[in-house]
Amino acid sequence: DKGNYRHFMAKEIHEQPEVVARTLAHYLDMSSGRAALPFDLPVDVAKLSRLTICGCGTAYIAGLMGKYWFERFARLPVDIEIASEFRYRDPPLEPGGLTLLISQSGETADTLASLRCAKEHGQKVLSVVNVATSTIARESDIAALTLAGPEIGVASTKAFTCQLAVLACLALAIGRARGALDDAAEAKVVAELMALPGLIAEALACESRVESLAREIAKVHNVLYLGRGTSYPLALEGALKLKEISYIHAEGYAAGELKHGPIALIDEDMPVIVIAPRDAVIEKTISNMQEVAARGGRLILIGDSALARDFAAEAEAAIVMGDIAPDFSAMVYAVPIQLIAYHTAVVMGKDADQPRNLAKSVTVE
Ligand code: F6R
Repeated sequence: DKGNYRHFMAKEIHEQPEVVARTLAHYLDMSSGRAALPFDLPVDVAKLSRLTICGCGTAYIAGLMGKYWFERFARLPVDIEIASEFRYRDPPLEPGGLTLLISQSGETADTLASLRCAKEHGQKVLSVVNVATSTIARESDIAALTLAGPEIGVASTKAFTCQLAVLACLALAIGRARGALDDAAEAKVVAELMALPGLIAEALACESRVESLAREIAKVHNVLYLGRGTSYPLALEGALKLKEISYIHAEGYAAGELKHGPIALIDEDMPVIVIAPRDAVIEKTISNMQEVAARGGRLILIGDSALARDFAAEAEAAIVMGDIAPDFSAMVYAVPIQLIAYHTAVVMGKDADQPRNLAKSVTVE
């Protein structure tokens, strides 16, 4: 049931405050301000030398973002892998180590094959899955559920932000077990996580602004997305979402890679969507924005009101976000990223829920 929405995708984008809150509540103890996993991890994470993460598409991108958190909060080295590469590469995996699979459906063929490959190497497997009865959930030592509810739209939206919520909580719990995070630091991060559902709800207010931007994007053939830190995986997600449902060619890049190639693409026809939350690398992102503006690119920024003010002359459009803890800005900035893709597809008359050539669950490789 789509309720009052035209598409499941719109409904699922709007469900995010609720489902992210539900997922966080499952993995956090709000009263003590600590991560509280509803299961025991299948290995002694204090002794772990690395974590391998695998997934496909948006699930892979969630893993890429999770890497920042596992490194930051748990000081745990992470190898993040596209499942279709991992399974055929004969990766050297230590027996007794931990592999983490991420999958909404829990049925993706390459992700399942990666799980079995990790097990053959004697690894324990933990999965972040949305479907509790799925094959990946059943074959894992532990299935950490995302409580996103059924996701019907082919483009993943609420499952993505719920995957991020689970990964952040796992990073905190593992960080504590490894002695990488003291109680005060953990309580601060838990409070930041608890604020996210409200911030995601506020971010949904950018929708009418995004709708007018979408009318412009619908006229172009190429779009570039740039971001640094956790905004880099979000840039990949923005590009993936736009190509998948509007069929406009889009690329996501780490903003620092701009001058290593993609800058050659920039001209007065090229919209460049810069994801620029106020974080530790904002000054670096700002210099990339200046590079885009100096070459006549069509600068579209997603950032706070001060940034929008500073770039009022250079930017063709700005989507203004509130103040968000820098480590988790990507979970809130995901909203305009998803809405840009959705409204562009709607303006172009595409079926956002059923894009051509795509299946919700890719059970063959
Ligand atoms: C993108 C999308 C796909 C899936 C990918 C993995 O919007 O939906 O890229 O993320 O096919 O699917 P799951 O998570 O079911 O393994």
